[in-house]
Amino acid sequence: MSTLISEGKTKKLYTTNDENIIKVAYTNHATALNGKRKEDIDQKGTLNNRISSLIFAYLAKNGIKTCFIEQLSETEQLNKKLTMIPLEVIIRNLASGSFQKKFGTDYLAELKQPVQEFCLKSDELDDPFMNNDQILALDIVTEDQIEELRQTAFKINTLLKELFIKANILLVDFKIEFGFDADGNIVLGDEISPDSCRLVDKDTKQSLDKDVFRKNLGDIIEGYQTVLARLEAEIN
Ligand code: C5P
Repeated sequence: MSTLISEGKTKKLYTTNDENIIKVAYTNHATALNGKRKEDIDQKGTLNNRISSLIFAYLAKNGIKTCFIEQLSETEQLNKKLTMIPLEVIIRNLASGSFQKKFGTDYLAELKQPVQEFCLKSDELDDPFMNNDQILALDIVTEDQIEELRQTAFKINTLLKELFIKANILLVDFKIEFGFDADGNIVLGDEISPDSCRLVDKDTKQSLDKDVFRKNLGDIIEGYQTVLARLEAEIN
């Protein structure tokens, strides 16, 4: 028996026979502007499920605690059930998006060191930026947990940069989310896919991610297929 637990912007979560395990079904929904713009894009669910499964398995193999158990089908995977922390953890290697806008840098300007940011996960509030004091004041996590999130995010960044560069792709920035498992460990949850990362071809600087949808630059599927094919060639 499998019943729907919740439906997010791009994924549906279902119960399984084990209370500590959920089934995640990737849909073809694409959203921008925190859900204000919506479209269905054929194949997107399959591609993100396959890309995120590959990346989570790679991270687990390299010592990162993740929710990923196994890919079940073209659009579904089994995950450990987590109590999610309502923070988006962002890492930036090159300037783009809200960072580029906020600080007036050139697109893809080199940063002297990677930047880590926290945002509150809230569509109603448009995911506002949060500093450590604000996280502590609102009792979201403890000071030690903030540090663990930050250090784990940097470690994931190092592993992902190594992986993507082998695929001739620059990891510009990405967003990850964490939760607590049944034993109270902080574990990587949600997904890592071209929906949640900015990825550009190292040579041509062509976007291979959701920016193509956000900026109305055309078909996103070609870029997602390129990412999957290049990662499969590196990982398998
Ligand atoms: O828009 P911004 O530049 O702050 O986004 C930084 C990174 O976080 C991008 O890779 C973007 O895809 C990701 N992100 C996300 N979900 C959000 C906000 C940002 O996946 N709600």
